Amino acid sequence: MTDKPVVVISGAGGEIGHGLIQRIAAEGNYSILALDLRPLDPDLAKLCAETVEGSILDTALLEALASKYRVAGIFHLAAMLSTSGEAKPELAHAVNVQGTLNLLTFANREANNAGANVRFLFPSSIAVYGAPSISAKEAAGRITEEQFLMPTTMYGVNKLSCEHLGRYYTHHYRQLSSDRDPFHVDFRSIRFPGLISAFTVPSGGTSDYAPEMLHAAAKGEPYACFARPDTRIPFMAMPDAIDALMKLFEAPAEALTTTAYNVGAFSPSAEEVRLKTLEAFPGAEITYQNDVKRQGILDTWPADVDDSRARADWGWAPQYDFDRSFNEYLIPNIARRYALSGTTS
Ligand code: SER
Repeated sequence: MTDKPVVVISGAGGEIGHGLIQRIAAEGNYSILALDLRPLDPDLAKLCAETVEGSILDTALLEALASKYRVAGIFHLAAMLSTSGEAKPELAHAVNVQGTLNLLTFANREANNAGANVRFLFPSSIAVYGAPSISAKEAAGRITEEQFLMPTTMYGVNKLSCEHLGRYYTHHYRQLSSDRDPFHVDFRSIRFPGLISAFTVPSGGTSDYAPEMLHAAAKGEPYACFARPDTRIPFMAMPDAIDALMKLFEAPAEALTTTAYNVGAFSPSAEEVRLKTLEAFPGAEITYQNDVKRQGILDTWPADVDDSRARADWGWAPQYDFDRSFNEYLIPNIARRYALSGTTS
């Protein structure tokens, strides 16, 4: 059906999917097979070789896709985020872990059919961390990949568990069998901070206060921030997140020293995000209404991450710091978006 190598993107209609499809289509090296529960936005669908409406829990669907395409890589983006996951933990586990296992099985079969390893890119999260107290979080500062791996949310537990599944499929799959296949999944994951996009708003996450604040201000709507003003977790602008995924996807396997990497960009407090938003939208009405339960989750997430391993192994370097993210990417694009849609006066 296509002469370019095919990459599968699950959860293609989500926040990361939007930017990733545009980037891969613009570069033109791969054909995209997009998978999502809901129909894809027509502007994105036209950039894909095929769009499939369906679930990663539907193994018959995955088998049908496997017989139709030879897949060179998978970007497995579909997931239930941390706040949604607390409302329905068992469903979150099914989607986040069983769904990942199904795609790892799919990738493993593809590797053996094609006679080449299949790269499997997985967005993990700062939610895999669980600092035991605010004072421990503050004292730790920039944390390494090995610290505080004690998540308190179903989402964080799921992400950490999938990181281990990916490491297992990459290095130890069927390790006792004499007929082990020579080709395997090549799993690579990035522990993303909270992501902020100018074009989409997240749903069901606990880092959502920053993007929600900004988008509400641009729309001229009041916003009550559920996080305390001093809450500090790392954030990243979406173009850097897409860049990180593509850089790690293309990195030579010999350069990699782990299957799970931290990536950092900037780490503002909620109040710093509010002040920055007010600079751009001086009339915005942004107040605080603390949700102690969601705050409890934020207080276990690190204030910042040590990403020196990603920098050394595959050349990670964020292009957007806090000021540049807001001044050059978020504010102009968001302002234009809502002005065009007539949401602002
Ligand atoms: N943005 C995610 C969430 O808030 C964290 O990775 O759930």
